[in-house]
Amino acid sequence: MKSPSRSGVFQSGADTRMEAYGESISFDRRLYRHDIRGSIAHAEMLATVGLLSTDEYKLIRDSLKEIEAELDADELPIRFELEDIHMHIEQALIDRIGDTGRKLHTARSRNDQVSTDIRMWIRDALDEVDHGLELLQRAFLNRCEQDFEVILPAYTHLQRAQPVLAPHYWLAYIEKFSRDRERVADCRRRVNRCSLGVAAVAGTTLPIDRDQTAQSLNFESVTANSLDTSSDRDFMLETAFTLSLVASHLSGWAEEWILWTTVEFNFIKLPEAFCTGSSIMPQKVNPDALELTRGKSARVMGNLQTLMLLVKNLPMAYNRDLQEDKPPLFDSFDTILAMLSIAEPIVAGSKLQREPISRRLEEGYLDATTLMEWMMKKGMPQRRAHHLVGAIVSDAMSQGVALKDLPLDALQSHDQEIDASVYDCLGTENAVAAFVSYGSTAPDQVRHQIEHWQERLGT
Ligand code: ARG
Repeated sequence: MKSPSRSGVFQSGADTRMEAYGESISFDRRLYRHDIRGSIAHAEMLATVGLLSTDEYKLIRDSLKEIEAELDADELPIRFELEDIHMHIEQALIDRIGDTGRKLHTARSRNDQVSTDIRMWIRDALDEVDHGLELLQRAFLNRCEQDFEVILPAYTHLQRAQPVLAPHYWLAYIEKFSRDRERVADCRRRVNRCSLGVAAVAGTTLPIDRDQTAQSLNFESVTANSLDTSSDRDFMLETAFTLSLVASHLSGWAEEWILWTTVEFNFIKLPEAFCTGSSIMPQKVNPDALELTRGKSARVMGNLQTLMLLVKNLPMAYNRDLQEDKPPLFDSFDTILAMLSIAEPIVAGSKLQREPISRRLEEGYLDATTLMEWMMKKGMPQRRAHHLVGAIVSDAMSQGVALKDLPLDALQSHDQEIDASVYDCLGTENAVAAFVSYGSTAPDQVRHQIEHWQERLGT
């Protein structure tokens, strides 16, 4: 069968190797619902402006719905000579209703059709990502209450730095995923513009109404320049970047919790159902789900690079290279949604190892900076206090004790001004309680942030 896109200009059919090389139906089939929705809206507009009769529109609409049901049931045969989902559907329509079906492509090209379909598809997929991110935020937020009393070391350079409340960590992730959700919403605005009616590249001489199509497909507006629109894939790149940043956040979290599950840290126990064993070492309980999350993030970032390279040298406007945009984009969405669906139950079901955490909490001088600030509150210049506390820590280290276990005279040997009230800021629990600044780990700040998020997420 000859492809409907081969006009009378061709003397012969395509080589079957070319058809197999050029097909995209194997991956763009998943656009079929959006393609049918777009075609129905297009046909309705054609009827409004008089390019189709009302009866023709209704016949096209009803037939497209039947074809959709066939696709739902996986009953539409795949034929490489029809290249993509758009021509499969159009050909199925022509097979059913003949010349009326041949009118559907009036004032339309596959260039604007593909772009519109993928924009509609991305809108829906972004909404799913947003939902997944929200569920993950909720899982972290639920942990905040149950873990409120737990103190954890905060690290810089992966060295123990200062003590923080466990919910301060959970809120940190909620903030990251909140920015991701802002980016999703922002990028969705630029995705949400209708390309239909741009036709191939210059527009059309037929009297179409682009606003009508855009409105019935729930687009915010129509794109303004046909050349730009025919070539534009910015919205895909932005989407791929937005997903890459989600992947980066998930990967960082996975890395952190992988460390936390080690004997060396022993901070957290993952739900067994998301761990795997070793075929040779009977004692192993491995955090494979987190390792896969770290690993899969590479694919999402790689997909962004693929898309960047795909478009960077294209002259305007549509070029067939752009057919290669869909596999990386689909893969990024599939991967991110899978990552989110695994992250949520892991966050919800993991248990902090409270006893081992607190047993080693006084190691690493997490309260040293608090002691320094205690001295500054007494009037000592920061640089002097910094030096002095360094010397005190050095003393404590050589004795193998925590700061709070140094006797007063040992502290006073460094500075006569130190009095017994210093013990109110020593020890990790006191050190946490001493914070006051906005955004800090001060318990009432953390409490305030939890309430803020409970309100925002409506829990
Ligand atoms: N399968 C093609 C794609 O996904 C359809 C667009 C083809 N347009 C064209 N002028 N050949 O990009």
